[in-house]
Amino acid sequence: MAKRILITGADGQLGRALREVYPNAEFTTRESLDISSDISNAREWSEYSVIINAAAYTSVDMAETSKGRITAWQVNAVATASLCRIALQYAITIVNISSDYVFDGAQKLHSEDELFSPLGVYGQTKAAGDIVVSTIARHYIIRTSWVVGDGTNFVRTMQSLAEKNIKPSVVNDQIGRLTFTSDIAKSIQYLLDTSSPYGTYNVTNEGESVSWADLAKEIYILCGRSSDDVTPVTTAQYYNGKTGIAPRPLHSTLNLAKIKATGFNPRNWKEALREYLVN
Ligand SMILES: NC(=O)c1ccc[n+]([C@@H]2O[C@H](COP(=O)([O-])OP(=O)(O)OC[C@H]3O[C@@H](n4cnc5c(N)ncnc54)[C@H](OP(=O)(O)O)[C@@H]3O)[C@@H](O)[C@H]2O)c1
Repeated sequence: MAKRILITGADGQLGRALREVYPNAEFTTRESLDISSDISNAREWSEYSVIINAAAYTSVDMAETSKGRITAWQVNAVATASLCRIALQYAITIVNISSDYVFDGAQKLHSEDELFSPLGVYGQTKAAGDIVVSTIARHYIIRTSWVVGDGTNFVRTMQSLAEKNIKPSVVNDQIGRLTFTSDIAKSIQYLLDTSSPYGTYNVTNEGESVSWADLAKEIYILCGRSSDDVTPVTTAQYYNGKTGIAPRPLHSTLNLAKIKATGFNPRNWKEALREYLVN
């Protein structure tokens, strides 16, 4: 019998996109497989060939609180280590998702081998997850940024504000590129199907690096409103007087040369954005 693919965090943005590319995989949610619990006997692990870990603690600001930091470490580092232990014991390939937040954002373009320099708790826990996954021979670490899928995200927020005729202030000094979850899901499938060399791969959409304010303007135009409705502000201005805000990397653009060299070419984010907004 062919071995199976198990996917965690199946109700998250990426989990939902993976349902499209892997209709026959086993999809698990927090209810059916809480990766922070003792999962060593949660499945007959010898029946699986691949684990795609789409589960994560992704609340960047909450991770700075006393409660959030414990959960972030449990899910992004400790639970990831449990999955790695199982992967090692049963010769399972593990796919884990990393983040631009493992870097401080000082460099304008990040390659896969840049040294870790996370600014906040979320980034620290994601870096810890990367380190443990990288010790497993059969691993893919997919490093991504500014993720957009079926769920709460920046694009949906801006679309909703545009529809309500609200004129937002949006930061103009954090620079990066969007990543649509359908492209991440396809990249994972491509790496696995082509048996590409194990390791870390940057995966975002292709195209110009822009600020959140530039993106908001683009979204407003696509929603039939004026780009002048969006007021660009600096991160310092935006968060002035607010507390409990995690520090964010200023430069999030990931170098896509390595994934493209495998033959996988992510779509341009503008094309993907247009398609996303009409659906
Ligand atoms: N979103 C971004 O901009 C971004 C940027 C760079 C990298 N990433 C990475 O990309 C990956 C996917 O992100 P996403 O946007 O799809 O995240 P998401 O929408 O927040 O989904 C994460 C999922 O993991 C689940 N989960 C949390 N703790 C769990 C546990 N203990 N056991 C099982 N499931 C658990 C969550 O369930 P609950 O809803 O019940 O908590 C949620 O369904 C993550 O690794 C994230 O760190 C995201």
